Amino acid sequence: MSNKKHEHSSKHDWTSEYNHPDCTKYYQNVMDKMQLVERCEIVAKYSEKHLVPLFKQWSGDLDKPLQFLDLLCCYGNDTLAYINAYFQTDYAKTWASQETCFQISKPRQFPVETLGIDISAPALQFGKKVGIFDRTKVLDLNKLSETETQFLEEKCQSSNVLIINSLAYINEDQIRLIIDWFASGKEPGMIAIGFVYSYMGPELISRYKFHLLKKLKFFASVPMMNRYLQEAERMKFGHEFGTYSRAYYEVWYLTREK
Ligand SMILES: C[S@@+](CC[C@H](N)C(=O)[O-])C[C@H]1O[C@@H](n2cnc3c(N)ncnc32)[C@H](O)[C@@H]1O
Repeated sequence: MSNKKHEHSSKHDWTSEYNHPDCTKYYQNVMDKMQLVERCEIVAKYSEKHLVPLFKQWSGDLDKPLQFLDLLCCYGNDTLAYINAYFQTDYAKTWASQETCFQISKPRQFPVETLGIDISAPALQFGKKVGIFDRTKVLDLNKLSETETQFLEEKCQSSNVLIINSLAYINEDQIRLIIDWFASGKEPGMIAIGFVYSYMGPELISRYKFHLLKKLKFFASVPMMNRYLQEAERMKFGHEFGTYSRAYYEVWYLTREK
C-alpha cells in the first residue's frame, strides 16, 4: 500500500481561515467569496430528501440517536448541511457576522449525537460552543499516537454516519484505514466521502473508489462545484488538467450492508 501523500496537494493555504476563533473568516473568504457554500446547499437538499428519512428509520429501529462523525470538520459547515438542512441563505443569515454566528437558525432534522474531529482547536471550540458538535476531539490525522488511533478506530466503528471531505490533507493509508474501520462497524451505517477534482488527481480518486467498493455497498453519488480556484492553483491545475477556474466535487454515499 502506498504511504505517499497524494500527488496533487498544492492547493491554496487556508490555515488562518481554519484557525480563527469563529467561522466568519472561513465563511467570508472560502464559503462565500469562493462559492463553496453552493455545494453545502446541494448536500443539504440531497440529505433532506434522500438521507434524513433513512436516518429517522435507523434511529427508530435502533431506538437511540444516531452517532454522527464529521472528520476534518472545521467549524461544522458540513454537519449543518446534513443535520440542520442549512441552505446558502441560512449560512448567510448566521455565519457571515460575529453578531449572528453563534446562533443556529434551523433545528436538527433527526435524532443524532455529533462528534467533530479536526486539527484546529479554535474551530472545534466554536462548533462545540454553538451546539453544532456535542463532542469534539483535536487530532492530527497524519500523526496519531497509539491511544489516538484506538480512539479513532472505535469512533469510526461505532458511528452510524461518517462524513469526510478534504481528503487532500490526509495520507492515503490513513484514509484507507478510516474506510476499513467504518466498514467493520456492526450497526446500520453510511459514509459520505467527498472527492475534489482537480487537486485530487483522477488516479487517486479512482484508487479510493475501488477501495470503497470492495468494502461497502454503493448507495449514490452527487456531483457539485467545490469552489473557485486561486490564481496559483489556476496555473498549476489548468496546465495539467484543463481546469482553470473551478474545482469540482463529487460526494459518494455508501452503506455498511453488503
Ligand atoms: C476545508 S476545511 C473542511 C471543512 C468542511 N469539512 C468542508 O469540507 O467544507 C479542511 C479542514 O481540514 C483540517 N485539517 C487539515 N489538516 C489536518 C490534519 N492533519 N488532521 C486533522 N484535520 C486537518 C483543517 O484544520 C480544516 O479545518
